Amino acid sequence: MMWYHSALLFLSTVLHTSQIASGLGSSCSAPLGSGTASPTDPYWLETIQHQGTSAFNSNSSYEVFRNVKDFGAMGDGVTDDTVAINAAMSSGDRCGGGSCESSTLTPAIVYFPQGTYLVSSAINTYYYTQIIGDAKNPPTLLASPGFNSFAVIDADPYIPNGYGAQWFTNQDNFFRSVRNLIIDLRQVPSANLAIGLHWQVSQATSLVNVVVEMSTAAGTNHQGLLMENGSGGFMGDIVFNGGKIGIQVGNQQFTVRNLTVNNADTAVLGVWNWGFTFQTVTINSCQIGFDLTTGGTTESTQTVGSEAIIDAVVTNTPIFVRSSTASNGTLAGSLVLNNIKLTNVPTAVGVVGGTTVLAGGTTTIASWGQG
Ligand SMILES: *[C@@H]1O[C@H](CO)[C@@H](O)[C@H](O)[C@H]1NC(C)=O
Ligand SMILES: *[C@@H]1O[C@H](CO)[C@@H](O)[C@H](O)[C@H]1NC(C)=O
Ligand SMILES: *[C@@H]1O[C@H](CO)[C@@H](O)[C@H](O)[C@H]1NC(C)=O
Ligand SMILES: *[C@@H]1O[C@H](CO)[C@@H](O)[C@H](O)[C@H]1NC(C)=O
Repeated sequence: MMWYHSALLFLSTVLHTSQIASGLGSSCSAPLGSGTASPTDPYWLETIQHQGTSAFNSNSSYEVFRNVKDFGAMGDGVTDDTVAINAAMSSGDRCGGGSCESSTLTPAIVYFPQGTYLVSSAINTYYYTQIIGDAKNPPTLLASPGFNSFAVIDADPYIPNGYGAQWFTNQDNFFRSVRNLIIDLRQVPSANLAIGLHWQVSQATSLVNVVVEMSTAAGTNHQGLLMENGSGGFMGDIVFNGGKIGIQVGNQQFTVRNLTVNNADTAVLGVWNWGFTFQTVTINSCQIGFDLTTGGTTESTQTVGSEAIIDAVVTNTPIFVRSSTASNGTLAGSLVLNNIKLTNVPTAVGVVGGTTVLAGGTTTIASWGQG
């Protein structure tokens, strides 16, 4: 009588929850007010008293909260703030640089007040760093015309002359966040490879409310995000404008919610995965929406293992999804599409070389899969 027992348990849980819910409901007699902050006040995180410490760090002066302006950043759009921002990142003998794989002793919140911060080389981020901008007026990291590093924000830097060695092991790169930030690459010559975020991360990581602005010139080499591998993670409320590639993603598993890509050559380049879920995707005026490397019919050649795209709105884009290998019924990489609204998208699903698997047009795909 197992079902009977679980049904009773379920019922008692429902009753209990509804009692709590009605308790909450009756105490909310009016909508929340608009608060007491004036529109010009900074985001609350900037001005509260910062008294948090790192629980197990033996140095009681170790600073968790760092306002980049306290480290000399000007945020005036003219002064090169690279050195000041990197000082805010690294101060306090933090875990990183290639000599420390992971540590929970040296966490940091690196806060950016509103402003435009000119950077000429990468902001290298240490283990357990939360980068947070003023949510009311998100600050901009502006790459200078001579910007010459791999990425504006680098979550796992390659060690110079290190033959591919990096600061962290990609599957162990935990506890990171970037929130409320604009990265602007448009001053960098469009022919240069410039990347907004090198986001090679693992669990307990998030990218939220981030915009990357890139060149829309023909042949642009700008790229919003590069993730070669990792074990993640979540990203949402992210917008990529222009560029050769919006996001290039390879990771064991990832959840992406509310992604917008406008005017890129390729919105999403999927290089490999075990399982990615995209929900709420908006793609406008790209050449290809999702370009997926799906290598073959066996597990060892699957590359993009599993792609689920749910609730997408795609406009003026010749190809929505393209895979590198056609499915003859046994493709190892699976693709599931749910509620995809296409407007002027001639090919819904195609294969490199031109074969159309599923015709598009101006139509809505309720549900479709291959694998
Ligand atoms: C403790 O941390 C503070 C702030 O980062 C630093 O100035 C100081 O040198 C550190 N002390 C030791 C003994 O590491
Ligand atoms: C992660 O990706 C890089 C770049 O493709 C590659 O060199 C490296 O071997 C990969 N690491 C793992 C553990 O897959
Ligand atoms: C999606 O993200 C954009 C940009 O952050 C935001 O303006 C919009 O409200 C979000 N939409 C949903 C449905 O969450
Ligand atoms: C599909 O392709 C695979 C690999 O080439 C092959 O082994 C298999 O027989 C093909 N299946 C069909 C139904 O054609």
